[in-house]
Amino acid sequence: MTVIAVDGPAASGKGTLARKLAAHFGYDYLDTGKLYRAVGLAVLNAGQDPSDADAALAAAQSIDPARLDDPALSGDDAAAAASKVAAIGPVRAALKDFQLAFAGREPGAVLDGRDIGTVICPDAPAKLFVTATVEVRAERRHKELLSRGEDSIYARVLQELKERDERDTSRADAPLRPADDAQVLDTSAMTIEEAFAEALKIVEGRL
Ligand code: C5P
Repeated sequence: MTVIAVDGPAASGKGTLARKLAAHFGYDYLDTGKLYRAVGLAVLNAGQDPSDADAALAAAQSIDPARLDDPALSGDDAAAAASKVAAIGPVRAALKDFQLAFAGREPGAVLDGRDIGTVICPDAPAKLFVTATVEVRAERRHKELLSRGEDSIYARVLQELKERDERDTSRADAPLRPADDAQVLDTSAMTIEEAFAEALKIVEGRL
């Protein structure tokens, strides 16, 4: 199996880089955050609490991972709920098989998330950990929301990212951290084109 694992915090640019890498190599691409977002949103839509382990596990067992095209998945409510359900071990376990099957696709697969290099695909030949300062990430997310015509307040975006980073890095199960053999790519001062050129250099050296 040829897997490119792309991990990192929210709004680091990892999704854009992962998509571009997949297109470059002709691999399939999976945004694993959408799995957690789908679970979080299902729990919210059922009027339940995303931190409720039983409710979250039931949702994880009943989502269809092949249907992740609901536009509501990209919203901030889904993101916050995602990081709550993602801290529940059995939820992570329930989503693992789909990710593993995807990782086995030919000729290769690019998966992005938080634990691809550490837990889901520890043997992936190429691992990137894409990061940027929280202020830069907040600025990017804020501009993206405004460009979509949505209301956004920078200070609130910054606060939400900090809270999500804290939950994602401090959880006991599969916390956000670079794998020992991951190459860290700090995109704070890079354009997308520069970051992609760097990412490509790293990945080509490892495949
Ligand atoms: O990447 P995205 O921002 O869509 O992820 C939403 C949330 O899902 C993250 O904040 C994280 O808590 C969780 N997640 C995870 N493991 C992954 C992907 C996402 O815990 N592999």
